[in-house]
Amino acid sequence: MIHSRIAGTGSHLPEKVITNFDLEKMVDTTDEWIRSRTGIERRHVAADGETTVDLAEKAARRALDAAGVAPAEVDFIAFGTTTPDLVFPNCGTLLQQRLGCRGVPAFSLETACAGFMYALSIADKYVRCGEARRALVIGAETLSRITDWSDRATAVLFADGAGAVVLEPSAAPGVLSTHLHSDGHYKDLLYCGSGVSRGFAERLAIIMAGNEVFKVAVTKLGSGVDEALAANGLERSAVDWLVPHQANIRIIQATARRLDIPMERVIVTVQDHGNTSAASVPLALDVAVRDGRIRRGDLLLLEAFGGGFTWGSALVRY
Ligand code: ACO
Repeated sequence: MIHSRIAGTGSHLPEKVITNFDLEKMVDTTDEWIRSRTGIERRHVAADGETTVDLAEKAARRALDAAGVAPAEVDFIAFGTTTPDLVFPNCGTLLQQRLGCRGVPAFSLETACAGFMYALSIADKYVRCGEARRALVIGAETLSRITDWSDRATAVLFADGAGAVVLEPSAAPGVLSTHLHSDGHYKDLLYCGSGVSRGFAERLAIIMAGNEVFKVAVTKLGSGVDEALAANGLERSAVDWLVPHQANIRIIQATARRLDIPMERVIVTVQDHGNTSAASVPLALDVAVRDGRIRRGDLLLLEAFGGGFTWGSALVRY
């Protein structure tokens, strides 16, 4: 039986940094409020003209380098994003052209912050069925483009970045299982009110009922953890590292409590990255792989929750 394994990881953050102190000058907020309610201290924001695919290309090349795979060898691209460069071609295809892997299937999918989990799940299945051998899985965003920088409720949260992994076939299991969910009943709690078919509203912005999103996120992420462990007959103690979606430190702490895992075994980047939506999990993963915390053979629990609502988890033997 063929499995898929993560052969390499990569990430990229735009150069420009906005600190909480910068935000104090832009909206009625304080560093103390942002840190205590969210855990965020700073975030990276794309420069004018810098696009989601620009960020993704850099993350992809780093992941390919780590995996020892040449860009032209990529044979499948799954790209999670809510902030595509264009209506079409999709971001996966734009990236394919830059990498020079002409003719291979490439697509993007929009499931908000769960975008990388959905892309990972699909790519895993293509590798396992033998139809892909060098799959590139991307989560990349320029959320700053749909953030209303005069709205203190959302301006303090969202940010830009990109993360990538390369999946390849393996005799031993790498990705053990993935679990995806959505529930459109919650759409009014978190959405962007503009779109091609509905039309572009005057205010292109993320609308969020933060407090209610918070409560559902904690519940769904907690049940995602239980579901992933139960599917593999594993105890909570088997997990070496929790790599959670970086939306809010209090949501991360609540999920860690559910898993009964100490915060030292949780990868936390929210203080430096803010909420980068689909990029958040692969960014956190790459940080911890490169700083040596996550090692080959470790059992990882990845999870994310986003607008829709959409959510997903994956158990991965790195
Ligand atoms: N600075 C200062 N005060 C603020 C700010 C701010 N930036 N934002 C809100 N406040 C005020 C509110 O107006 C409110 O004031 P009031 O009590 O006088 O009415 C008070 O702070 C408390 O507001 P709450 O919304 O209740 O604060 P809460 O503790 O819930 O924190 C937050 C808000 C950080 C948004 C939190 O609810 C959260 O993180 N929610 C989850 C967001 C999330 O996970 N999103 C994930 C998916 S994102 C995606 O898919 C794109």
